[in-house]
Amino acid sequence: MAQSAAPPYAGQRIETGDKWYQLFQKGVELGTWNVEKLFDEIGFEQDRETWQSLGEDERNQIRYLLSGFLDGETEVAGDAATNLSRAMGADCLAGNRQKEMFMTMLTLTEHKHTQFLDIYMNEVMDDRDNYTELDPRRGTRVPIVQTTGLGEVFEHQGLLTAKAAQTDDPVDIARAATNYHLNVEGILARVGSTAISRLPERANLPLLNYAFKFISTDEGRHITHGVELLKELLEKERAGEPSYQGVEAGIVETLYKDVPYMADFAYMYTEAVGDPLDLDIDATLLRGGNLIDGMYNETLGCDIDYLEVMDTVSDRYDEITEWDLESRLEEQERHYQQKRGITADGGDE
Ligand SMILES: [Fe+2]
Ligand SMILES: [Fe+2]
Repeated sequence: MAQSAAPPYAGQRIETGDKWYQLFQKGVELGTWNVEKLFDEIGFEQDRETWQSLGEDERNQIRYLLSGFLDGETEVAGDAATNLSRAMGADCLAGNRQKEMFMTMLTLTEHKHTQFLDIYMNEVMDDRDNYTELDPRRGTRVPIVQTTGLGEVFEHQGLLTAKAAQTDDPVDIARAATNYHLNVEGILARVGSTAISRLPERANLPLLNYAFKFISTDEGRHITHGVELLKELLEKERAGEPSYQGVEAGIVETLYKDVPYMADFAYMYTEAVGDPLDLDIDATLLRGGNLIDGMYNETLGCDIDYLEVMDTVSDRYDEITEWDLESRLEEQERHYQQKRGITADGGDE
């Protein structure tokens, strides 16, 4: 991370020269876009009009993509506000006070992303049902997210961040940060944002587009935080500090665990859903692979076998192209409907 100059003043509790302090300041300065203002300034009209003019398969592809974001943003906001923030106060982390300060900015922006997506999808794409009343926090995700493997990545995130908050152990913190900042934000969200940035060629959705420019900039700061955090832990491991041993292995293991499920969601880009918006699975996989290589190998100095990762992805891809997605979706919806019946009855029947 480029180190900007420290301000000409200092505190006693807060280190103003610390890079997390500066990242916090950047969030205060740049992360202040206002979702409601964006709604007021751009309005929903053009997006609604375009949405109405799209074919059903085009709508489905966009809705699937945004459903991944809606559930993803809700999950990262929830974990950032609770366990991830707690873990940043761990004694094993340098400048933990500044890291906690940064987490407030991260949490705020994740809630704004959720705010945008939830209202946008409700106002523009009025024909979807995300089973909100069945508690979307854990276990009741949008059917398409639950049907594909994406739900597993978020499940993993919940477990890893909870463990990191509980143990304050550097290896547990590394695992949580790998899933959260590298896999979810650094790969899934970036690949998804790339797809959304290509939508204007096919669908004029200015409100969605503007919002995603802000969202991507916010995510850039979150990823920087994650990468710097992992670098710090790896440096201590490589310097031979006993309690940091196992950090790199934890990072690598977390990638291999998440990769097949991340590939599952790439199903949304394939010919199996017709790919009416031409999001192009090959380009998507290549972009994902480059991001893995760049973050894990080049930046963090891990030794990820790129070909092994791509093999895992392509094996999984062969598997999922055999899926009958429609019937899986119907099955998931049937299950939710049943739960909804139980909820409505208060569980008495
Ligand atoms: Fe986000
Ligand atoms: Fe984020």
